Amino acid sequence: MAQNESNIAVDLRGISKHFGTFVANDDISISIMKGEVHALLGENGAGKTTLMKALYGMHRPTSGKIFLWGKEVDVTDPKVAISLGIGMVHQHFMLVRPFTVTQNIILGMEPTGLFGAIDFLQSRKRVEELSKKYGLLVDPDALIEDISVGMEQRVEILKALYRGAEILILDEPTAVLTPQEIDDLMGIIRNLTVEGKTVIIITHKLKEIKHIADRCTIIRRGKKIDTVRVHDVTEQDLARMMVGREVNFDVPRGPFNPGTVALEVRKVSSLDGRGLPALKDLSFTLQKGEILAIAGVDGNGQTELAEVLTGLRNLVSGNIFLRNEDIKNLTTKDIIRKGLVAIPQDRQKFGLVLEFSVSENIILQEYDKPTFSRNGILLNDAIHDYSAELIEKFDVRPPVPEYKASELSGGNQQKVIIAREVSQNPDVLIANQPTRGLDVGAIEFVHRALIEQRDRGKAVLLISLELDEVLGLADRILVLYEGKIVGELEAAQADEQKVGILMAGGQL
Ligand SMILES: Nc1ncnc2c1ncn2[C@@H]1O[C@H](COP(=O)(O)OP(=O)(O)O)[C@@H](O)[C@H]1O
Ligand SMILES: [Mg+2]
Repeated sequence: MAQNESNIAVDLRGISKHFGTFVANDDISISIMKGEVHALLGENGAGKTTLMKALYGMHRPTSGKIFLWGKEVDVTDPKVAISLGIGMVHQHFMLVRPFTVTQNIILGMEPTGLFGAIDFLQSRKRVEELSKKYGLLVDPDALIEDISVGMEQRVEILKALYRGAEILILDEPTAVLTPQEIDDLMGIIRNLTVEGKTVIIITHKLKEIKHIADRCTIIRRGKKIDTVRVHDVTEQDLARMMVGREVNFDVPRGPFNPGTVALEVRKVSSLDGRGLPALKDLSFTLQKGEILAIAGVDGNGQTELAEVLTGLRNLVSGNIFLRNEDIKNLTTKDIIRKGLVAIPQDRQKFGLVLEFSVSENIILQEYDKPTFSRNGILLNDAIHDYSAELIEKFDVRPPVPEYKASELSGGNQQKVIIAREVSQNPDVLIANQPTRGLDVGAIEFVHRALIEQRDRGKAVLLISLELDEVLGLADRILVLYEGKIVGELEAAQADEQKVGILMAGGQL
């Protein structure tokens, strides 16, 4: 694509954004061409969202200029952005849950006047047309609370298109999607550009960038590193530019030396939140010194499995033996004391108390131990020293025990959780989607930590929707489908195709 003036859709010129003394964006200039898929790549906290919020009018840049189709614009708020043809789909969706798909899409732009009802039908028709045109399949009359996350995302995209978006910003759109939904989204993005739309996609998944983006701008610590043609670079190149050092995709590991059974799940059945069967007569064993991965498409019982193992959900029948002791229906605290710890799926809801400091989070389960408190009074020096040591060992940044957990990036929040859990010296570690939403640098760290546990003879159960992660880490793979184990593969026999077939309910 020739970079002549006339086909530049968005021109960011020297954008800086300061939050107090902190520089989130430092003099960033990017030209985004009409009809291209432009990826923004950077680690968590690099400043990607901040930059796009400036374009979408959610932040006022501290300095710099924004040009749209060659003309300088002043995007004072998102309404202005929308009127200029810019749409943004945020990381966390912003739909009204008790409303229908159509109601959400037209919200704020409802037809008025005498013929409101008829106009509503017209709006609904328009939604259907857009949905067909771009392959954004949704049920216009379904309630948001009844549809999947992937569907919600389509509704958000439709909402932007309905408002006339020509430039669509997608902030980490695949972080919440299953492999199938990701494929669908890639198709949708392609349809958008075929129709002349410009797409800016924020992601840290290198594979996706290689797959869908034309060009990629790499941002590190608020600064633009480069804009490259995706075709000209490898994933390794992108990773290096993103983190500022070589990233090792293949984490070294010791030989596979499985020991005795650490955890046995025997004929476990349990219900989901709606009272429907989620786990159906599930049985497996986990040995010391192995990483056993549970692969599967989201919603096949992964959440419930993690919950029954960690005391957050009761069993209908069956047993769970930790070594030889039945831990079914014990409280989480008791289970932890007995040597089973977990890295939860939702680190903000279950992993951390966001308003607490890093050190408070680190001693969350141990504050009543004599090392940390006496007569109900916390021993702050001891807590500080202990946390500082873990912070250093697990490379939490910034290395400040008093820092609030909410102020850390996702990757660093995850490091705090891993530091806390692993330091309990557990026999069994359950890692439920431990790298969800993390960038490659942080993923590498988490993977190393899991392998280190395995190499130290601990039993690791990895529950993951990321097939690459499963194939890269597991010694043994179980595939979970509709609440049952439908296949077991040794790492050596497993490949993407075999596991994929089982994940989709097929047979080998
Ligand atoms: N409203 C805000 N106030 C203070 N700091 C912020 C605010 N928004 C973002 N930041 C900080 O700016 C940095 C960049 O954040 P962000 O743009 O969200 O990163 P990314 O999207 O690349 O993960 C982070 O360190 C974040 O903590
Ligand atoms: Mg972001």
